[in-house]
Amino acid sequence: MTIAVLKRDKHCEINLPWPINALNTFTMTEHTITNAEIQALVAQGAADIAAATTSQALQDARVAYLGKSGKIAAHPYFQTIKDAAPEQKKIIGADRTAATAQLTAALDAKKIAIEAAELNERLAKETIDITLPATPAPQGSIHPITQVTNELIAIFAEFGFTVAEGPEIEDDFHNFSALNIPESHPARQMHDTFYLRGMLGEPGQETPAVLRTHTSPVQIRTMLANKPPIRIIAPGTTYRSDSDMTHTPMFHQIEGLVIDKSINMGHLKGLLNDALAAFFGLEKLPMRFRASFFPFTEPSAEVDIGCKRGRDALVIGEGDDWLEIAGCGMVHPNVLRNCGIDPDEWQGFAFGCGIERLAMLKYNIPDLRTFFAGDKRWLTHYGFAPLGGQQ
Ligand code: PHE
Repeated sequence: MTIAVLKRDKHCEINLPWPINALNTFTMTEHTITNAEIQALVAQGAADIAAATTSQALQDARVAYLGKSGKIAAHPYFQTIKDAAPEQKKIIGADRTAATAQLTAALDAKKIAIEAAELNERLAKETIDITLPATPAPQGSIHPITQVTNELIAIFAEFGFTVAEGPEIEDDFHNFSALNIPESHPARQMHDTFYLRGMLGEPGQETPAVLRTHTSPVQIRTMLANKPPIRIIAPGTTYRSDSDMTHTPMFHQIEGLVIDKSINMGHLKGLLNDALAAFFGLEKLPMRFRASFFPFTEPSAEVDIGCKRGRDALVIGEGDDWLEIAGCGMVHPNVLRNCGIDPDEWQGFAFGCGIERLAMLKYNIPDLRTFFAGDKRWLTHYGFAPLGGQQ
């Protein structure tokens, strides 16, 4: 029998899951093992090696056949080499080389095959589970002011309101005079106004520039630019020169204005009650109007909602305490007149409400000043996930 002996020079060709460099070079020598017993032994060895399925079984086969006192080394045929004639020695030696080489080649090829199989098995087991939730990427958060503003816009949108805007740098006319607060009127002292250098307004009618002290000038801008009926809300930033535990120089308000033919205070009360209940997520919200004064509304009222002041928590909608939440009233005829609207034909209401206050109450934020401190930990804690919900 002629056995082809594959002598591995560098790498055997193996069945790897990826291509490897063609470094597989083999030198073929041909030698016929002369001894029948050795032929059978090599055939048996090749069968044992082929049957091995684990690295350990293969290692056992290697030791059994090629080990120091393995089946090849210990075979009586090879023992005879010592005493053989020189010609015979050559043949026995060649037989030994051929037998060893063939078994080694079989072992090496099988070793690589087993390792490849084991690797494949591990790779199959270690596939990425794409159903696992991804590690979230760091993301910013929605500031509570923005969140609450958006909530209010959504609620009033349901009642048919559109959003109106006005400048934060206003002129005295829109911020005060047109709202029935003439110069030297004591009501001006209610607002600690930031006056800016310079004048603003139509040419020839400029008045001092101010940072708007409330969102009410948007009422004026809306009524000057639009014919009634009008139904708007105007959320925005406002400024007063005031800073203590419960006041910041910058804060936010939401203004509401409805002008129509037969709008009355009952509509105002019903709207505010429904809107505030919706905002706080309550079925029913106790609410009362308290007589008050604003130069631009007549009659005017302060809006209180029912609450319970616990030792360390304030519960909205329960108990028999009251919490002031907004100012409102029927738009003063002078204001309508200032905007070219006939008060004998049209009437309506307006309201104004602090947004920080609503945010603090709804989301249990204890300190007003933290809203504007820009502390990332605060923003992470009180902020909202960009796609909805609290973080
Ligand atoms: N502008 C008033 C304030 O800032 C609130 C208000 C608005 C009152 C509209 C009545 C009507 O206090």
